[in-house]
Amino acid sequence: MENIQISEALIEAARNVKRVSGLTHDFYKYPARFSPSFVREAIQAFTQPGDTILDPFAGGGTTLVEAHAAGRNAIGTDINSLACFVSKVKTSRLTKKDISAVRQAVEQITEAPLPSWIREEVVDSHYKHHMEAVGTWRLRHFFEFVVASSNTLPPRGRDFIRVVALRTGQWALDNRKVIPNLAEARIKFRLNASSMLDGMRAYTEAVAAGRNVDINKPKAINRSVIGIEQDRRFIGVTPQLVLTSPPYPGVHLLYHRWQIKGRRETAFPYWLASSLDGQTASYYNLGSRHEAGLKTYFAGIQESFKSIAALCNHETLVVQMLAFSEPDWQLPEYLQTMKAAGFQEAVQADARIWREVPNRKWYTNVTTSENTKMEVVLFHRLSPHPLTPPN
Ligand SMILES: C[S@@+](CC[C@H](N)C(=O)[O-])C[C@H]1O[C@@H](n2cnc3c(N)ncnc32)[C@H](O)[C@@H]1O
Repeated sequence: MENIQISEALIEAARNVKRVSGLTHDFYKYPARFSPSFVREAIQAFTQPGDTILDPFAGGGTTLVEAHAAGRNAIGTDINSLACFVSKVKTSRLTKKDISAVRQAVEQITEAPLPSWIREEVVDSHYKHHMEAVGTWRLRHFFEFVVASSNTLPPRGRDFIRVVALRTGQWALDNRKVIPNLAEARIKFRLNASSMLDGMRAYTEAVAAGRNVDINKPKAINRSVIGIEQDRRFIGVTPQLVLTSPPYPGVHLLYHRWQIKGRRETAFPYWLASSLDGQTASYYNLGSRHEAGLKTYFAGIQESFKSIAALCNHETLVVQMLAFSEPDWQLPEYLQTMKAAGFQEAVQADARIWREVPNRKWYTNVTTSENTKMEVVLFHRLSPHPLTPPN
């Protein structure tokens, strides 16, 4: 099997640390998001219009957005319902009618006084935990009003407004030293809605420009990648490219919570997205970072890639970006796990792309966080002689 060629443009894009922006990428700051420029470059380098791209750990949907905008079929899975909700909204184009309904609702939400019924609501829900403190309850009222107002809209408009609320709520509450007041939140809500409508317009134009090929609507499926080969929705799906970023070994990311004033965690984003919560951090991270040898993590990666292998053919390229808390032992273990799942590297070891990541906020077990600031891009194909034959 021949090694693939990696262009300078791809290396440069992989190392690009500019702020994530463009199209619908700004809709929500999903933890450990891909850099869209890297995703775009990888799609251009390794696929043709009309091809199929799979992101089995799709998160906030960066791959799905870029793939669809480039005229490729895009399909993804994620176990986090919040991630799938955000991905769905980012890849669902709005009609003119939806846009005018959204504009009207934003006008009403940001101009009207908060109705008094909202103040009477009792905070009894798991989803509103830590949203009752001084400084946050007024914003909670505002978001309750937003959600109530969005419920009268057609489904796409309603979900769009909910993502405006998610973006505004994340800005207002998550890891903020000073929580903004109601007036500031209203202004931000309006600004977010306006820039998100611009992003949606750019996305719609990009999709329309690629209309010369026949492609399906992008799909973000809320399920584990483990077992997709037995899921009817994946019958006939053979990706030319698997482009993904799995949970990182030994690194714990808070995919499912906002942190209010320090470590007080809230599931409020799920309430805004009308999505089901109920799992712990280790569920989304494929295991606990405290476990000796990260046995659960590596077993999860092996099972995941065995399922992915069952969909691939020998032409499929698997490109993944990941970081290690302790690369010295975790990288060899990861590569061994990929082998056991039926893959082999498609580049020489010295051609792997490494990049430094500034300002990443995550938790690891090691006291020096130097290594966690490095991410690597790995390239694999199905092995002609798999250790374990695909199912
Ligand atoms: C590093 S994030 C992906 C971020 C994504 N590349 C983006 O641009 O937003 C990893 C994702 O894997 C998901 N995940 C963890 N275990 C999974 C599993 N068994 N099946 C599918 N997704 C899983 C997590 O919920 C998380 O969203």
